[in-house]
Amino acid sequence: MDRKKKGLLDFRRMKEEKEKLTWLTAYDYPTARFEEQAGIDMILVGDSMGNTVYGYASGTLPVTMDMCIVHCGAVRRGAPNTFVMGDMPFGSYQTTPDDAVRNAVRFFKEAEVDAVKLEGGRRVVPMIRAIVDAGMVLCGHIGLTPQSTGQFGGYKAQGRTAESAIEVIRDARAVRDAGAAMLLLEAVTPEVGDFITRDLDIPVYSIGAGPHCDGQLLIVSDVLGIWEAFKPKFVRRYAEVADISVKALTEYVNDVRAGRFPEDVHCYKMIEGEAARLEQLAKDLK
Ligand code: KIV
Repeated sequence: MDRKKKGLLDFRRMKEEKEKLTWLTAYDYPTARFEEQAGIDMILVGDSMGNTVYGYASGTLPVTMDMCIVHCGAVRRGAPNTFVMGDMPFGSYQTTPDDAVRNAVRFFKEAEVDAVKLEGGRRVVPMIRAIVDAGMVLCGHIGLTPQSTGQFGGYKAQGRTAESAIEVIRDARAVRDAGAAMLLLEAVTPEVGDFITRDLDIPVYSIGAGPHCDGQLLIVSDVLGIWEAFKPKFVRRYAEVADISVKALTEYVNDVRAGRFPEDVHCYKMIEGEAARLEQLAKDLK
């Protein structure tokens, strides 16, 4: 399907005109194709792949730059007319601004992404500045940041008291001042989502930050009912693909065991007369 790819100017206009942006994660070529066909505005190749694709017990932490580049490339090919964002994995930017720039550059050169995202507020300002000064488009990510859940004591909503909400707001302003083109808020109350969306002149998007932000992100494996381990409060399931898949695969297993598959329609045909010749030739085989 041919369509005009949306970019930063569209996202700024959408904020001004209060048009909601739609955003999903994808990790592979077919899912990216489905999302583009569904008319999604933006795709995140999230390091949530650590959970959803690779099944690591420690979630996103083992995800590497090389893994992200491979998955971003697949998504880029599946959704050539969609804004694709690469998620910088744990360890790829926390060390130094130079490392942050070097790794961000890899996303753009090797996977042709349109933007990168990294987690953190005031403490990653030097890394955000360095990436933006090098000419790249960056999205900040604050609130609950999965790469630091050890410090939060688990997957816990942020900004539930006025004092902790002020800390999230300080982070939002710092990320904006450092040059981020947009901001993702994860697992904060709708009041905090609303305040920051009105406070900042850049687009502010929500994953679990309520309905007032400029757009919504969800993890595709949650939306489709593929990820079964847990369901965050902010998720709405639109399909039960895990159930459908297990049912279909069980039918396949049963059909093969019972001799119901393959049937005639699934078999290649010998060219006319060749079956008889084969019998003859086979007899003479030593
Ligand atoms: O990796 C990811 O999918 C993310 C979302 C949880 C926001 O960063």
